[in-house]
Amino acid sequence: MKKKFETKYGYFTEDGKEFVITDYRTPRPWVNVISNSSYGLVVSQLNGGFSWIVHSNLNRLTRWEQDLIRDNWGKYIYLRDEESREFWSPTIKPVMKEVESYQCRHGIGYTFFQSYYKGIVVNFRLFVPFHHNLEIWTLRIKNKGNKQRQLSIFTYLEWCLGAAPDSHREFHKLFLETEFNDENQVLLARKRLWEVPSERGHWNTEWNQTAYLACSQSVDGFEGDKEAFIGRYQDLSCPLALERGELTGSQGKWNDSIGSLKKNIELAPGEEKIIYFYLGAEKNPEKIFSQIKKYRNPDNIESAFQEMKETWEFYLTATTVETPDEALNFMTNTWLKYQSISGRLWGRSAYYQQSGAFGFRDQLQDSQVYLYMQPDLTKKQILYHAKHQLKEGKVLHWWHPITDQGHDGNMSDDLLWLPFITIQYLKETGDWSILDEKLPFYDDPVSQTLFEHCVRAIDRVLNRFSDRGLPLILAGDWNDGLSAVGLEGKGESIWLAHFLYYILNEILPVLEQKNLSEKIVYYRQRADELKEAINEIGWDGNWFWRASKDSGELIGSHLNKAGKIFLNPQTWAVIANSTTKERQQKIMHEVESLLESEVGPTLFHPAYSSPDPEIGYLSRYAPGVRENGGVYIHAAVWLIWAECLLKRREAAYRIYRKICPIYNSQNPDCYCAEPYVTPGNIDGPDSPHYGRGGWTWYTGSAAWLFRITIDNLLGIRADYEGLIIDPCFPQDWKEVKIKRLFRGTNYFIKFISSGKSEAQVTEIFADGEKVDGNLIPVGSGKSKVEVIVRIR
Ligand code: GLC
Repeated sequence: MKKKFETKYGYFTEDGKEFVITDYRTPRPWVNVISNSSYGLVVSQLNGGFSWIVHSNLNRLTRWEQDLIRDNWGKYIYLRDEESREFWSPTIKPVMKEVESYQCRHGIGYTFFQSYYKGIVVNFRLFVPFHHNLEIWTLRIKNKGNKQRQLSIFTYLEWCLGAAPDSHREFHKLFLETEFNDENQVLLARKRLWEVPSERGHWNTEWNQTAYLACSQSVDGFEGDKEAFIGRYQDLSCPLALERGELTGSQGKWNDSIGSLKKNIELAPGEEKIIYFYLGAEKNPEKIFSQIKKYRNPDNIESAFQEMKETWEFYLTATTVETPDEALNFMTNTWLKYQSISGRLWGRSAYYQQSGAFGFRDQLQDSQVYLYMQPDLTKKQILYHAKHQLKEGKVLHWWHPITDQGHDGNMSDDLLWLPFITIQYLKETGDWSILDEKLPFYDDPVSQTLFEHCVRAIDRVLNRFSDRGLPLILAGDWNDGLSAVGLEGKGESIWLAHFLYYILNEILPVLEQKNLSEKIVYYRQRADELKEAINEIGWDGNWFWRASKDSGELIGSHLNKAGKIFLNPQTWAVIANSTTKERQQKIMHEVESLLESEVGPTLFHPAYSSPDPEIGYLSRYAPGVRENGGVYIHAAVWLIWAECLLKRREAAYRIYRKICPIYNSQNPDCYCAEPYVTPGNIDGPDSPHYGRGGWTWYTGSAAWLFRITIDNLLGIRADYEGLIIDPCFPQDWKEVKIKRLFRGTNYFIKFISSGKSEAQVTEIFADGEKVDGNLIPVGSGKSKVEVIVRIR
């Protein structure tokens, strides 16, 4: 197998479906987020990380502290040689003894460690079955030497059982209890207090799950007490239990509760043994025993592993691409989908951020990824979010599953993502019935149709205008960091103005479908007025300014010292087509010369060097970091969209390459972040760490990059009537193939390009028949259609 995109830390496998880490000293933790939408875990290349059920913040099974430098909280494994008493960790941490060989492979739905030390090979696989709330650790241990070996395996984790971080551990530990069930050989863990309020008040309910840790065979010891395991003033690299070689069997309500099991194994020369461990949680404790019983049978483990792989295969293969750019292929075919689904939609967790909650705008945008494989799931997400709208039209900024409690952040844009994603869903599926789905409001049980929910969102924004006809920014508008610009209800947003203009136009076909002529006239008129205001008031001379403060002072204007020009109001002027073509060309030219850096466009320039209380926390970040003049990947992807709309094909692809993690990680000690997932941001030129990626996994950029790659760069886009063919890939790409699932038909599309600069489609044939224009109409009813597109 050929190694792809290899650096000193590792490489992609030839099919791009695994990243193999060969040196554990990666510049940051390189993690995997594995989830089945109910149970999940994060695991780093040193086996750091934690596990949760349903909610990574309210229902965490194991303790973990956010420390990306030390990465020293995990669910660990020790091996001990009973003769020499030497011990080590096959995943390096926590013992940190150098093994003779090490490898960590992060794959889709699993992570696999392999190590070799003094004649012992350990293969350790970690995965989560698709339909049960547990993780299974497979330890395959082989004696490569020529003498008999007596080994013991020790596991170690600390119970959290509820809200995290449990910073008040001395209080919370008082409610934890462990119990070893001898008959079933399982260590159970419960907590008699949960942070989630109940009907009978605060702190007056039990954690709603029972957690467990078990081994495939009867164990040779267990431990529920941290002090007994670690020893006083010792630590996990050299704990008392491993020195002693025994666990004490402590359990009950009086400890700082941990979970550890010990299993002895004897290995003849050349012999291999497989031991499994199970960590999980169930609401009904009875189910734990049946679950363990099932998975004590290795056949059931392997079939669960296969089922997990096949389910992922379905998500990954519905829409795929084959282009001359292998990095783009790897990202599009595998990792962006996996990141969006496993990380953002199901796990909602990572190393840089553990949310667990649903963000109104965040997971709606993420759910676009489902459109290309299973649009029903986008529908589910839309309907779920609609229920978190208040009857007056505004929405919760985020809310917690489990409690359904949330926060009304008074953001000015959140609510508009509801019609935005609904429109995308309609274009993808033609399923107009979604508009008639009836859903309650968060504060009103009387259900209204989704259509009504969408209209209330738009109308609400239309009612929040300044006197001069621009929408108010309030507590932020996609850019959460502009958190103080409009708190008094006077500051305005030009980005929001473009976004609203886009929605007002895009909603028209929906209104036509509903025959709402008065509403059409009204929205058209509001759109016209808005466009005029944007262009009259929002124009700064060479670009659009970003926002006005409550005081009236502008942000993103040539008059400013910091934050002179912002990216979003330029890109969205093109996306929304809310200004003239001349201005569109002009602002893109300004973006290129003032914002584009080596690692993509910065969110604005120059960065703020001191906090501005009238702007918000954006200005409080160090210069060049995240929203303060960093390259914010979510917004950078929108630049690719805008470049494609203007048919600036070389620019579009240039930006793609600049933000693509695979290319950036070719310089790993500068970039630092994982090569296989998008980062939330890369430090911009105003940071001394220019080029450093961060906030990986937990970013809306993944689903967006996937969408824009398919829809705009490669140019296969769903519309009401069919698939629009509108490529914008580089001139020297002679052939590109795409498999696109669309309304039940698999379209196998092949672009043949003559390499001229225009990227103009000359001919399209669908199953041998010439197609008029550049739209392949829906309705063939076939399961498969072959499409040939010729480009001049
Ligand atoms: C974070 C938020 C997202 C917001 C973005 C820009 O990623 O989750 O909702 O749009 O920051 O501030």
